[in-house]
Amino acid sequence: MNLFIFFCIFVQFSIIQVRTDECELTSNDADVQLTTKTFLQSRQFCSETRFPSRNTRQIIISGRLVDYTARCKRGISQADIEIIHGQSGFHPICRELHHPNSRGFYNLSTVIVTPFTGQLYIRVTSPGYETVLKRVPISLSSQRKRKTIFLQLKLAMVRSEAQMEQQQDQQTQRMNSIVDTLMSQMTIEEKIGQLNLVTVGFDVTGPIVSENVDENIRQGRIGGVFNTFTPKGVRPLQELAMNHTRLKIPLIFGYDVIHGHRTIFPISLGMSTTWDMAVIETSARIAAQEATADGLNWVFSPMVDIARDARWGRISEGAGEDPWLGSQIAAAMVRGYQGSDLSSSNTVIACLKHFALYGGAEAGRDYNTVDMSRITMYNYFLPPYHAAVEAGAGSVMTSFNEIDSIPASGNRWLLQDLLRDQWKFNGFVVTDYTAINEMIEHGVGNLQEVSARALNAGVDMDMVGEGFLTTLLKSVQEGKVTEQTINQACRRILEAKYKLGLFDDPYRYCDDSRPGTDIFTNENRLAARDFARRSFVLLKTDRKTLPLARSNSTIALIGPLADDRRNLLGSWSAAGNWNQSVSVREGIINLVGNKNQVLFAKGSNLIEDTYMLQQLNAHGGEIVIDTQSAQQMIDEAVGIASKSDVVVAVVGESQGMTGEAASRVDIGLPECQKRLLQALFNTGKPVVIVLMNGRPMTLTWEHEHAAAILETWFAGTEAGNAIAEVLFGLYNPAGKLTTTFPRHVGQIPLYYNHKQTGRPFNATQFTDKYKSRYLDIPNDPLYPFGHGFSYTTFEFGTISGDKSELRGDSDRLTVRVPISNRGAYGGEEVVQLYISDPAASVTRAVRELKNFKKIYLRAQQTDEVTFVVTTNDLKFYNTNLDYVWEEGDFIIHIGPDSVNTQSIRVKWLK
Ligand code: NOJ
Repeated sequence: MNLFIFFCIFVQFSIIQVRTDECELTSNDADVQLTTKTFLQSRQFCSETRFPSRNTRQIIISGRLVDYTARCKRGISQADIEIIHGQSGFHPICRELHHPNSRGFYNLSTVIVTPFTGQLYIRVTSPGYETVLKRVPISLSSQRKRKTIFLQLKLAMVRSEAQMEQQQDQQTQRMNSIVDTLMSQMTIEEKIGQLNLVTVGFDVTGPIVSENVDENIRQGRIGGVFNTFTPKGVRPLQELAMNHTRLKIPLIFGYDVIHGHRTIFPISLGMSTTWDMAVIETSARIAAQEATADGLNWVFSPMVDIARDARWGRISEGAGEDPWLGSQIAAAMVRGYQGSDLSSSNTVIACLKHFALYGGAEAGRDYNTVDMSRITMYNYFLPPYHAAVEAGAGSVMTSFNEIDSIPASGNRWLLQDLLRDQWKFNGFVVTDYTAINEMIEHGVGNLQEVSARALNAGVDMDMVGEGFLTTLLKSVQEGKVTEQTINQACRRILEAKYKLGLFDDPYRYCDDSRPGTDIFTNENRLAARDFARRSFVLLKTDRKTLPLARSNSTIALIGPLADDRRNLLGSWSAAGNWNQSVSVREGIINLVGNKNQVLFAKGSNLIEDTYMLQQLNAHGGEIVIDTQSAQQMIDEAVGIASKSDVVVAVVGESQGMTGEAASRVDIGLPECQKRLLQALFNTGKPVVIVLMNGRPMTLTWEHEHAAAILETWFAGTEAGNAIAEVLFGLYNPAGKLTTTFPRHVGQIPLYYNHKQTGRPFNATQFTDKYKSRYLDIPNDPLYPFGHGFSYTTFEFGTISGDKSELRGDSDRLTVRVPISNRGAYGGEEVVQLYISDPAASVTRAVRELKNFKKIYLRAQQTDEVTFVVTTNDLKFYNTNLDYVWEEGDFIIHIGPDSVNTQSIRVKWLK
């Protein structure tokens, strides 16, 4: 127990270093004046200075450089940090130069001679930021006491507007001049070639693959390539473009880097349940670091489609059902991938997808039709796309579905009016895989017609289908598209290549030495483990079975996923190698194997339904059916369960059961696994269910019988270690759902921010007829949005607002709530703030998430959480699609999830 508490304190300490919610600007020390001239003069002196070995102290200064203007959420990696020794009494100053790592962390060390009479400074210079010069305080007492003095300094820097603008202007001028020159030399065929994106190599992510790629590159008929990576895979193709084409235009290289590249993090839905933007941004940063070391410069992520239908397999790829949270996550992902400078060799262009409304597929069937009112789009589905555009996403991928009866890839309203005119998007638009060709099936024309339509609508790049390549020239000749439109699309592709720095060095991402140093590092694996445990959601707890004892107990580890590596990475595991992942069995043995007895039995197959099995295995599912009979497997499992103190049942879906083209109508556990669970429940032993899956599932029966249910999604490379740490209490789970878990599939679509209707159902009067309800089950979900328990208990005190009546845009409402940790463990709580607008010009959702704070409280600690509400939080799109707030009453709700809240009512007038 003590160890657990110690661990939590330690973890929190390390969180504070990374996460900077309290963000303070680092101001220069006014009395320090050090000029470049002084440095230069002193350089020679310093290079001759030798420290005597006695009376020396080593100073280690570590911390992080963060961007103050990005609320300290973004690390600054491109910077010089100098540690400067100023000797008092005479002028020389010695300096040592350092650089932060890719995420802005730095670790400097230097030596001083004691007693230290001089001054130590840190100077940070970074392009686009104001220079910071800070005195480092070194107390005399620490000099006396310690040989090594450790200091922590987080430096928050502010952008230098003037420098930025000047730099940007220069860059834009240079880009325009390079692109203009190039385009003046290009033939129309070469321009069309730039609009062609082909797939080669390792992965097949659509129904057809590209042919004659080498020859087409030589002919200047290809602008970008995806599905190949590694410097060795990429370089030869780039060489073809650089050495064998007339104009030597480099190719861009894209890939589905979705939740990690080689080090795989939890699936995106799991990352979203961390409710931790620093973690999410860092995951994208690491993915970019690994992807660029592997030859790539463009990732098809983030996927920001709002989804309310758990039948849809791709719900696993997004951030859930909430537009506000989805927007925060979308922006964090873009920041993580793109960093502050696309031309750095460790940043990539993000591709926001699938534009738009792909998650609204009817009946949750992938690729199905979407039909939605504009006002619903604007209020509930479009915000995350918009947020990603505002965060600077360099590219956008169109979706497969139609919008207002026009396929997205040919929808000019979507791609021009909304995306470019209203949102000011200035990157390039690529289609999804053969989406232009699929417009033929949608029924809006032949290949030439749909290709012209897509280009005219605003598509710049055609993924795989080659409709642009094969028909656009003809369309120009027939006057169906103009050369000017082709020029514009070509320019956007060339601009992206310029921004990536490819015109300066086309092999910038083909450094053979980087895979060895940047990929699948220990640091990245540790990050993967940490993100995984943060993503887990404790759906149910009896408050006694978990955490498990770390010694002297017998644990029956049972289930088709208990000793499995194949499924841990989930769908879109990109370049992840499942053989490198850690199974739950391995994780548990690693952690407590020598102190506990861990008995194992598979207990059941993953699925036995041959209709589904055949489909899954046709696409590399590799689900092997055990040679034992179902009964033999169950008997074996019951045998070890009866001998054990506790049963840990690891059950769920195979990785192929969610993701693209993986919709299901039954979102419960497969029958064979349920039979296993029934047998385990019958033993009377406490059963902890560890779930692995990529969607909300129906778990009503499991909920009734299990002692605890831990949702772990598909947790990635380090899944097993992370699960073990949570089961045995080395980390206290704090994840919260970002999707509603229904009681029954028939309730779908079920989401917390629904409308009230004219006949709302009141559960306390459940016999009322003529109410919006089902006869057979209640309306409410099994687990609501925002739900998730902890090993400790958080008590919310009474919420209070500083005002009950407010006026105008400049007014602010401060809402406070005390929160106490009443349990025995330290832990994190996500304090959620929702707002309702009970009377407006249009109907509003019953409540909408508008803010949250994730806090850590030690056992028995109380703290107060404060939120500031502004009129921005009251805004919505009205019937004219104007983004407004209307005066009247508002209800502010605060709680640990979207249901168990307390409220205050305020009046906010114009
Ligand atoms: C189709 C998927 O819809 C999309 O998400 C993915 O990026 C492309 N294929 C490329 O693989």
